[in-house]
Amino acid sequence: MKNLPEILEVSDYDNLLAKEADALRRKVYFDEVYLRGLIEFTNFCKNDCYYCGLRISNTNLPRYRLSEEEILSCCKTGYELGLRTFVLQGGEDPYFTDDKICSIISSIKGLYKDVAVTLSIGEKKKESYLAYFKAGADRYLLREESANPLHYSKLHPKNLSSEKRKECLKNLKEIGYQVGAGFMVGSPFQGINEILSDIEFLKQLSPDMIGIGPFVSNPETPFAHYPNGSVEMTLKLISILRILFPHALIPATTSLWTLDPSALEKALKCGANVIMPNITPKRVRDNYRLYPGKTNTEKEAAQTVADLKSIISAAGYRAVSSKGDVRRI
Ligand code: 5AD
Repeated sequence: MKNLPEILEVSDYDNLLAKEADALRRKVYFDEVYLRGLIEFTNFCKNDCYYCGLRISNTNLPRYRLSEEEILSCCKTGYELGLRTFVLQGGEDPYFTDDKICSIISSIKGLYKDVAVTLSIGEKKKESYLAYFKAGADRYLLREESANPLHYSKLHPKNLSSEKRKECLKNLKEIGYQVGAGFMVGSPFQGINEILSDIEFLKQLSPDMIGIGPFVSNPETPFAHYPNGSVEMTLKLISILRILFPHALIPATTSLWTLDPSALEKALKCGANVIMPNITPKRVRDNYRLYPGKTNTEKEAAQTVADLKSIISAAGYRAVSSKGDVRRI
């Protein structure tokens, strides 16, 4: 690989890089693509991040919460479709106390012995992370968003900090979770140096999962007038991350898909090996609006999974029905 700043200088698609990335992913993960059933169980959020539609100041957004029964019913549907990982994602919603989260986790793990539960519910105390882990949670997704403290402060209100974020990631690792980090590509004020800081941070953290997706401008946020991130740059970064982290689980993310439906197949060819079909009930799915234009809000879970499977095989890969744990080498 040429030197990183040079590669990042130009934003177009880099075929050589993609080839190198694909060869590495095939060495570690063969042609396997893991499906994770995404359950967006609450869109309430106490935070006010400048880029995100779930921000507390967004009074245009109808808010919802799924009950434990509804979440379990999503899992049932997902399990029958062959999904073996459920990702519980939500805003930072104080209604879901640690007890409620633990109860949901242990119910899922009690019903299905061969699934992994991934949480994506933001910053919590170490004790809370520990309680979820003891209840059976296997993985945790918490993007660092930006590893550069100054850049981080331009994307978030004052009560949130890059230091706190990194502390949470460290705690999650110490507890023993498979940890996912990542950042948005093309977020406001991000330049090559900011991307390099994120890559540097990821090298130190050595996460099991790395999620990146283009920033998608949301008219219901203070960043309404900033341009979207580049799909090409995101694809290139997926290849770079695969080369730097051959063992990592790297999803083709929803925001990539939102900006360019054909980018899903491209992302797989650039080194991504995970896709997260949305199995949130249709009734509420449209309201989990981090950004506008999310695709598939009309589809039933079965259709979403079937469509993804055909995209995966058209791209030359194989959707497998397994937990899809990280393979450290
Ligand atoms: N565009 C792209 N990604 C976004 N996220 C939140 N808002 C946006 C947006 N406007 C990402 C954040 C968060 C993840 C769940 O979604 O990186 O961690």
